[in-house]
Amino acid sequence: CGIVGYIGKREAYPIIINGLKRLEYRGYDSAGIALFDGTDIQLSKTKGKVVDLEARAEKEITMKGNLGIGHTRWATHGVPNDVNSHPHYSNSGDLVIIHNGIIENYASIKKELQNRGYTFKSDTDTEVLVNLIEEVKKKENVKLGKAVQIALNGVVGAYAIAVFDRNKPDEIVVAKLGSPLAIGIGDDEFFIASDASPFIEFTNNAIYLEDEELAIVRLGRDVKVRKIKNDKLVTPHIHELQLNIEQIEKGGYDHFMMKEIYEQPSVIKDTYRGRLLADQGLIHLGGLEDYIPKFLNADRIIIIACGTSWHAGLVAEYVFEDLTRIPVEVEYASEFRYRNPIITEKDVVIAISQSGETADTLAAIKLAKEKGAFVYGICNVVGSSISRETHSGTYTHAGPEIGVASTKAFTTQITVLTMIALKLAKTKGTISKRDYMLYLHELELIPTRVEEALKSNEKIKEIAEVFKNASNFLYLGRGCNFPVALEGALKLKEISYIHAEGYPAAEMKHGPIALIDENMPVVVIAINSDHYDKVVSNIQEIKSRKGIIIAVVTEGDTAVTEMADYVMVVPKTPEMLTPLVTTIPLQLLSYHIAVLLDRNVDQPRNLAKSVTVE
Ligand code: G6P
Repeated sequence: CGIVGYIGKREAYPIIINGLKRLEYRGYDSAGIALFDGTDIQLSKTKGKVVDLEARAEKEITMKGNLGIGHTRWATHGVPNDVNSHPHYSNSGDLVIIHNGIIENYASIKKELQNRGYTFKSDTDTEVLVNLIEEVKKKENVKLGKAVQIALNGVVGAYAIAVFDRNKPDEIVVAKLGSPLAIGIGDDEFFIASDASPFIEFTNNAIYLEDEELAIVRLGRDVKVRKIKNDKLVTPHIHELQLNIEQIEKGGYDHFMMKEIYEQPSVIKDTYRGRLLADQGLIHLGGLEDYIPKFLNADRIIIIACGTSWHAGLVAEYVFEDLTRIPVEVEYASEFRYRNPIITEKDVVIAISQSGETADTLAAIKLAKEKGAFVYGICNVVGSSISRETHSGTYTHAGPEIGVASTKAFTTQITVLTMIALKLAKTKGTISKRDYMLYLHELELIPTRVEEALKSNEKIKEIAEVFKNASNFLYLGRGCNFPVALEGALKLKEISYIHAEGYPAAEMKHGPIALIDENMPVVVIAINSDHYDKVVSNIQEIKSRKGIIIAVVTEGDTAVTEMADYVMVVPKTPEMLTPLVTTIPLQLLSYHIAVLLDRNVDQPRNLAKSVTVE
């Protein structure tokens, strides 16, 4: 979910609505806004997206107000409908809250409140929380801030909340545990949001709350931040934001996803800029330098991540083991954390996350740290929870990724992981000088290669037209392109809602081959590599069962090109780096199919970009 709030001299409504639009990547099942003019509160909320909210609010919000809060939701408790949407009132109608996260012990609290006469309109845990705050406020006879603090001490779960009180028109109280919360500081005006994007045109200064912190945002004074547990006052660090408005706009593309696909040459370059100096044979990653011995002495490297980031981890497994000869395991964060994993201080954990907020990944990191492991983060969002929770790390420099289906985050993650592997291999001596230099030069050329691969866009659009009505797709790859096949299938599923499966090409004969008939498009990554001949055999197996082949081939290819029904050409690069280019046509294919099917490319149904619940 995404939350936004404003208090100051301006009209709050447009700030909240625009802010919500920028945060829709965090969920878009329903949306709502509450406005306060010092006397009256008006609230409007609805199932659907922020545009649906706007349509409704046109009728329901009739006044102006300088205090407002808004919410865009990814449902956890209760189906996405109007009633379950945020904001929520307390029973008295005095308190109004928005909440991102999950209150795990809401059921017992709800029962207790019901025993005291409270009633509930929605099925949400949030409505329970706002009434708990109200109850504490009455019972203890305390002000809003204190009541929030006491209430949160009795709550198990995760939250980023903003709440205001009809009796305190100059104040919003916010608190955070697990879910992110930023406070933008203007000239006697304050902005509250899940990330800084809703307020970047207003201020460059922001406080990022830490876990278990509560802030009282009041006009006419500095933001007061306290620890929720022990009430200690903390001096917040005011960050200077580096974001600019162009970075979060579409820049002439129809969709963020397409913009982000086309940004890959430049953001891959941004990711290695100043870190990779091919001519001098140097890789320098600030976060890594001091910890190289930790990696080299590790029994194992365990990579934890979710979704697309997990696929980047799988690519890294091939690269790391090949180059560094350190055993690597790649785990879904959600599985890792719940299966009593064997992990010791001799293990190094790499956590990969675009958003840096994924709840499962964050919890897996905490578990690994408890067991004494060293944890290294690869995140895209600067200052995110995961980047703060890890011992050290490297940022990808992909810039804000807004399309829910991840594209540029994936290729920049692989870029960082490859640089780490090369650095470790060079230090350990498991790579020859010649290979090392070759990889450095080739990595530096990847932006050009990706540009080359993007030139097939029109051709891929034609292929998309042919297959847009298929109901299943199979994606095959071998070696480090097996994870690319998984990622290609995931992209298609996510944005076109066509069922797709990724498989190691050779494993196909142990099952999926049964699915192949003349209606089954099979996307095969058949680039020049050590596995080329094997992939050719796999293609023959599919052809002899009448399957349709869409092959990703290296430029100049002949054998597969002759056999395949359609080809998507990528430039040549050493096999280990091919995932960075073979991914491109697969991103484009899923994009065009989704557009042709009139899907919501940037905000596919049921998904959220940043999953801050487990
Ligand atoms: C969600 C997104 C995916 C993303 C995954 C992991 O499911 O829709 O695109 O790959 O979360 O997110 P992270 O931010 O941790 O990389």
